[in-house]
Amino acid sequence: MITVSDINWDAIRAAANEAMGKAYAPYSNFPVGAAAQVDDGRIVSGCNVENASYGVGLCAECALVSALTMSGGGKLVAFTCVDGHGDVLMPCGRCRQLLFEHSAPGMMLETVSGMRTIDQVLPDAFGPRELDAYSLTDPASGTTCEGCE
Ligand code: THU
Repeated sequence: MITVSDINWDAIRAAANEAMGKAYAPYSNFPVGAAAQVDDGRIVSGCNVENASYGVGLCAECALVSALTMSGGGKLVAFTCVDGHGDVLMPCGRCRQLLFEHSAPGMMLETVSGMRTIDQVLPDAFGPRELDAYSLTDPASGTTCEGCE
């Protein structure tokens, strides 16, 4: 497992820019590249892939999360995203949720306002823990189920 001092921002940024160069964005002409380092040290990345049915286009973060899962899973510790000029881009709201699901606690994001944690860019996030907490309660009374762990 890597620690904060092992985060290789140069490699993450390079991967994001390389991914941006592969974007399929003929409708918006707004290529995006996203990249992140995983808690085992590897780097995953993705680009946006648009569609003639505009609404079903995929953000770069979708491809990144797919690459993460396909290459062995793990938790993301550091993330960046760039636009067609190579400038830092904020992940859209939906993609913050996508990233939250796969984030290590305290995951760092390079943002337009500097380094931020996943909790800062998606405060009070809804995530897997909420589902777990619900499954342990009786919806009628709100009390913890007897015998539930
Ligand atoms: N886009 C991303 O890939 N990620 C984001 O977080 C923001 C938006 C893409 C979607 C679309 O292909 C293009 O940028 C313009 O919205």
